[in-house]
Amino acid sequence: MIGQRVLDTAGALVAGGKGLLAMDESNSTCNKRFAAAGIPQTEEARRAYRELIVTTRGLAEFISGAILYDETIRQRKRDGTSFVKVLTDAGIIPGIKVDIGAKDLAGHPGEKVTEGLDGLRGRLEEYAGMGARFAKWRAVIAIGDGLPSRGCVVANAQALARYAALCQEAGLVPVVEPEVLMAGDHTLERCREVTEDVLRTVFDQLYLQRVTLEGMILKPNMVLPGLACPRQETVDEVADATVRCLLRVVPGAVPGIAFLSGGQSGELASARLNAMHVRFEWPETRLPWALAFSFARAIQRPALGIWGGDEAHRIEAQRALIHRAKCNGAALRGEYDAALEGTSSATAGTPSSTIAAAG
Ligand code: 13P
Repeated sequence: MIGQRVLDTAGALVAGGKGLLAMDESNSTCNKRFAAAGIPQTEEARRAYRELIVTTRGLAEFISGAILYDETIRQRKRDGTSFVKVLTDAGIIPGIKVDIGAKDLAGHPGEKVTEGLDGLRGRLEEYAGMGARFAKWRAVIAIGDGLPSRGCVVANAQALARYAALCQEAGLVPVVEPEVLMAGDHTLERCREVTEDVLRTVFDQLYLQRVTLEGMILKPNMVLPGLACPRQETVDEVADATVRCLLRVVPGAVPGIAFLSGGQSGELASARLNAMHVRFEWPETRLPWALAFSFARAIQRPALGIWGGDEAHRIEAQRALIHRAKCNGAALRGEYDAALEGTSSATAGTPSSTIAAAG
């Protein structure tokens, strides 16, 4: 039996029209993003950037939990206060990414399996002792010629389920993230078919490993056409395909679904999330679970570009961060409108329900 605290945390992560902020980029992913923005790839630069994020005023109005990385959960503000304390004091629940990355899957060219189960029980205990209340594990599934293979889907689903069971044993809420990637020229229908199969397999494995569904959060991709697919469906079509797929395969006992953004623009991610709420929760909800967000790039990207490693731009970057958090908060109430983006946005002035999915 899992404890009441796990159930409470799972509920709190998706309550009150809030979502998660993923700031758990591994050092190599963070460095890649820094390099692209001309920022030095040092531990101090990564620390300063994460300090900028966690000290953004008003974040807790839209953000229920923040996902940290092993380096970040040990870091502190310049004044010595730990990031975990800064977040907790602000009313944001700290979480931790615990997988150690997707590695090539033997015998399956072009496919990956996520690793990190060895020693996980001890690491979870340590993170829980440091104040983490939930954890995240990301599996990646590529769509391509003959992909994904059954072997890849099952291997990743088994790892996700074993990780989730260990989390609940340690008193942490597992955020289960099977990501079907956007890369490729596949259609939305193909993404739906693969997403449905992956989620069915993941829930089969969660049952086998005796994971309590009430004490977990699912973090899936939206159902989208591949980035290189010539037909890009509208926001409403994406919203319908995504929610219908989830209704078919995600048990109602799961308290919440928090989408990853997967490389979508911030505006599109907000518009699509908004359309799901408008179309399935009005005038009354037709959904058994809360639908929220757990975005990294779709919240952070403008802020990182503005900051650029220069503390003189910190306040402006924080303004950009809170803006995206606020837009996603509005989307959870079905109140996001592209007009909220101001004139600088590519989508400004276009009603959210009619913005074509530009990928
Ligand atoms: P994106 O929103 O940038 O896809 O990141 C979410 C995440 O946590 C990836 O593991």
